[in-house]
Amino acid sequence: MPVSSFQHVRIAGVGAYLPERVVSNEELSATLDTSHQWIFSHTGIQQRHLAAPEEGAASMGLQAALRALEDGGVSPGELGMVIVATSTADYASYPSTAALIQGKLGAENAGAFDLNAACSGFVYALSLGKCTCRNLGRPVLVVASEVNSRIVDWKDRATCVLFGDGAGAVVLVPASSPGILHEVLGAEGAGADALVREAGLRTREDSLRKPGYVRMDGRAVFQFAVRSMEKVIRRLMAEANLPLEEVDHFIPHQANGRILDAVARNMGVPQERFFRNIQEVANTASASIPIALAQLRRQKALQPGDLVLLVAFGAGLAYGGCLLRW
Ligand code: UT7
Repeated sequence: MPVSSFQHVRIAGVGAYLPERVVSNEELSATLDTSHQWIFSHTGIQQRHLAAPEEGAASMGLQAALRALEDGGVSPGELGMVIVATSTADYASYPSTAALIQGKLGAENAGAFDLNAACSGFVYALSLGKCTCRNLGRPVLVVASEVNSRIVDWKDRATCVLFGDGAGAVVLVPASSPGILHEVLGAEGAGADALVREAGLRTREDSLRKPGYVRMDGRAVFQFAVRSMEKVIRRLMAEANLPLEEVDHFIPHQANGRILDAVARNMGVPQERFFRNIQEVANTASASIPIALAQLRRQKALQPGDLVLLVAFGAGLAYGGCLLRW
């Protein structure tokens, strides 16, 4: 396929994978000083899926990828690149989770690398995937997979109740008309200390710390979330020169139902136009948006021509969004 024949990129297939085990708020309350009432009223979460002991980012991502490839009618051998967004990779540094998935798929013509922009990882990967797909003139697989249950302190009620595990994937293909219309990516790196996983190589002491748990200033992240999501939505619409009323589906990162309520209210958008599945899956970090896309696709809610707005925020403090014509 000549590299220059396609100007645009669209999503051809979507897939998701959620681990079988479902853990309710009530089940957590049996071993933790918390309650369904507190968790549900503060976050909108009722349950989460948790990975089995033998599952990880690569194995869950592989399942989501196979479903996306089947949905898009693309074979692994056609792929030019495999990009995986994750902050809970199978190996701390290398090999990349993308390489493991590429190997299992038998995608022998594809390159592979991971990208970490925490909960915003999928929109970053989608943006990069679009450029790669256009440059190569070949399909690109974008996966987001997270096993959050392995990095939270199950004794810390302020964080562990918020997260779940899961994976989502999309296949991007060159197209003659716009599918991925526009992206906005940004970060407030100066505030990055508000959400940290305490493990790494920053100092020798850090490198000896084991295991490294998530530490979060919940209030600061909440405020950043509302501020950055509104900023992304306004910038996407202004830069694409489209009115907000034309958006058919707002698909926000699922971190807290109250964050979504606040953004919808402040933007003057009816709550029902903001997709929500946090009650079932909790916060699956970078995987939350492709899991939502797959759910909407299964429900046949995404119609050709629909305008879809993706918006995410998270550690970094990175944020981003993407406008799609389905
Ligand atoms: O993907 C990005 C990741 N993070 C986020 O998006 C998080 C954004 N922030 C939030 O969603 C909210 O700040 C939280 C849900 C994390 C917390 O809600 P909050 O209304 O800000 O509560 P808080 O942290 O101010 O805590 C209020 C109280 C505290 O007790 P005291 O000090 O008032 O006696 C906490 O100890 O609630 C207590 N608390 C809990 N109680 C029962 C905190 N977690 C729990 C819990 N169960 N699980």
